[in-house]
Amino acid sequence: MIVVRTPHKLRGALAPLRGAGRLALIPTMGCLHEGHTSLIRKARELADVVVVSIYINPLQFGPDEDLNAYPRTFEADGTVCKALGVDVIFHPENLYASGLPNITLKTSELSNVLCGATRPGHFDGVVTVVNILFNIVQPDIALFGEKDWQQLAIIRRMVTDLHMSVEILGCETVREPDGLATSSRNRYLSAEERKRAAALYASIQEIAENTRKGKRNCKKLLENARNSLKMKQIDPEYIEIRNASTLTETIRITDLPTRAFIAATIGRARLIDNVALEMT
Ligand code: PAJ
Repeated sequence: MIVVRTPHKLRGALAPLRGAGRLALIPTMGCLHEGHTSLIRKARELADVVVVSIYINPLQFGPDEDLNAYPRTFEADGTVCKALGVDVIFHPENLYASGLPNITLKTSELSNVLCGATRPGHFDGVVTVVNILFNIVQPDIALFGEKDWQQLAIIRRMVTDLHMSVEILGCETVREPDGLATSSRNRYLSAEERKRAAALYASIQEIAENTRKGKRNCKKLLENARNSLKMKQIDPEYIEIRNASTLTETIRITDLPTRAFIAATIGRARLIDNVALEMT
């Protein structure tokens, strides 16, 4: 495994590996946990060359968000990658040549809802950095977690709209035994908050279960879920039912791909989750 710190060196390192088969990229911000390692394992199965990028992208953090506090654990991350057979870690100091970039990508409808509604500019920052990473690495396949479903939907849309030739693979959310989606932000939770946090997944699972039982009215499905959250003293930032790819609101469940989404702040941690709603 090699660690590369500049785009120029990365291009050099990848040149002889290209043509040796499929090249997979897993973009991350480090502090690797089971969610990330599931993507790396999948990439190892599917590709011949596996590149993990570790870059805490300043462009996707708002002025009041946790950019400075975001955990930096490069040594441990390196050990994890090595054990999983990663070929190259790309860990640049700065991807924006002159401070912040002049040229960025801009998302529209897909980023005005859900997390985008309270994190203006966040998804513009995400697509800008993912586009830069795609340009430098030129992967055949890139893997992303379904945990960040809105991010995944926006990246898929970027690839379609900009005619990029990379396959995007969404991978199932990895969860703790009580259902809480694994996240680097879970470490901000106290023991009591950690216990309560399980209610996020429970509430969207309740919606999924009621959908399977034949309930179709989204307003009612959401009302029940909100009551369950209230009993656990959780006031969500949002809990919504939306089309899985357009992210438009759903009034009644149909056979179109639909998901339930939730975000809530517990203590210092802003947590998000989502599940598929299937009729049977
Ligand atoms: P980060 O939060 O480090 O996540 C890197 C990848 O891991 C993302 O695709 C995310 O969806 C996936 N992931 C995180 N937790 C997961 C879980 N519990 N189960 C499955 N996958 C999980 O997402 C980002 O970084 C950044 O926005 C990035 C795409 C790297 C752009 O800067």
